[in-house]
Amino acid sequence: MSFIVESKVEEYAEEHSTPSLELFDRLAAETREKTTAPQMMVGRIEGHLLAELVRLSRARRVLELGTFTGYSSISMALALPPGGRVITCDVNEETTDIARRYAEEAGVADRIDFRLGPALETIAKLDGPFDLVFIDADKPNYVNYYEATLPLLADDGVMIADNTLWSGRVADPDDTDESTEAIRALNDRVRDDPRVENVLLTVRDGMNVIRRRR
Ligand SMILES: C[S@@+](CC[C@H](N)C(=O)[O-])C[C@H]1O[C@@H](n2cnc3c(N)ncnc32)[C@H](O)[C@@H]1O
Repeated sequence: MSFIVESKVEEYAEEHSTPSLELFDRLAAETREKTTAPQMMVGRIEGHLLAELVRLSRARRVLELGTFTGYSSISMALALPPGGRVITCDVNEETTDIARRYAEEAGVADRIDFRLGPALETIAKLDGPFDLVFIDADKPNYVNYYEATLPLLADDGVMIADNTLWSGRVADPDDTDESTEAIRALNDRVRDDPRVENVLLTVRDGMNVIRRRR
């Protein structure tokens, strides 16, 4: 995965944003050392933006699909008001263990409910409403995740689908890879769906920010 924003511009933006907690640097370093695809982490700018979206939307109940090593779930949990909760799920036990450890250290372990198992099975067991849903698991299921979680989203609730520009590949008509096609299908579905309003942001690898209409 390569990102849309040039690395020196991303670094400049990081240097001119409020610094994140030092534990995120260690979490990122451990993720680089122990996993084969550390670029899956949302990183500083997107982690910070997710936290601000939680604050600005006054979210109390958050659902995340795709925990990985916890960068995004911990970022969002730190932004919750007292009593707020993140439910996050993943199929990978090892990376979830890393996430649990850093959540403890960040003091938000009691605000994060880590679930192991395929996201569609986890969603099927949940009741809404959620104020914010962050979709960041396997790309071929993106339309399924959208359709399964939209009914669980509160009126005016926010859904964010990550990697929705897929290193720019969505705009290359010759790219017919399964994940590229799946992300295109989601972006088309969202744009044409009268139940929602959205803006597809060119932040990091593309964030489709979707609001459920009242
Ligand atoms: C892009 S990473 C998530 C990154 C994470 N949000 C972060 O900021 O660090 C995608 C994650 O989705 C998980 N995943 C893949 N297929 C899944 C499925 N069917 N259900 C739940 N999680 C899945 C992978 O194990 C991986 O950890």
